[in-house]
Amino acid sequence: MIKYSGPKRIKTAVFISGTGSNLKNLVKFSKKKNFPITIELIISNNPKAKGLDYGKIFKIKTNVFNFNNKMIKEKEILSLLNKYKIKLICLAGFMKILSKSFIQKFNGKILNIHPSLLPKYKGLNTHARALNNQDKYSGCTVHLVNSKLDSGKIILQKKVKIYKNDNVRTLSKRILKQEHKLYPAAIKKLFS
Ligand code: GRF
Repeated sequence: MIKYSGPKRIKTAVFISGTGSNLKNLVKFSKKKNFPITIELIISNNPKAKGLDYGKIFKIKTNVFNFNNKMIKEKEILSLLNKYKIKLICLAGFMKILSKSFIQKFNGKILNIHPSLLPKYKGLNTHARALNNQDKYSGCTVHLVNSKLDSGKIILQKKVKIYKNDNVRTLSKRILKQEHKLYPAAIKKLFS
């Protein structure tokens, strides 16, 4: 696991594309005593991401990068991360795939939360796929990011039961609730 022996908390950037409920939750945890990270930066590829509002609410710097030219944007992001001395990236509903070289530069220090029990259902539409296959369980996973999509080392997972009358909305809502417990728990596990 990642060992961090410094007295200070780990400066973290959260990458989002949408609602940002995981971001909001991580900010809430980061304000608790003994939580190992502080959130210094919010990065979004989407200027309309609702989660950007949390920048204003919690007074955290936000930056929007449109990913039309991914390589150039990633270079800009890396220099911003350097400027803010960011040592950990938490992807939280970030809908862009980062390049291999970007991931390598942050090797072992990018986390993602994914709404399925990986290695099942990598990629998109996880809830619909679990429902279509009539699975009994789905869940969520926090994992380290490597250059293969949703394939890095798993830090923590939580199983969530699927009920007969579930649909994508009800299932995603129930899983999201668990995500809000799992992501902070995985961060604690990683840095303890
Ligand atoms: C979550 O379900 C997360 O697992 C997935 O995208 C969703 C983001 O939700 N990667 P939010 O923006 O954190 O509310």
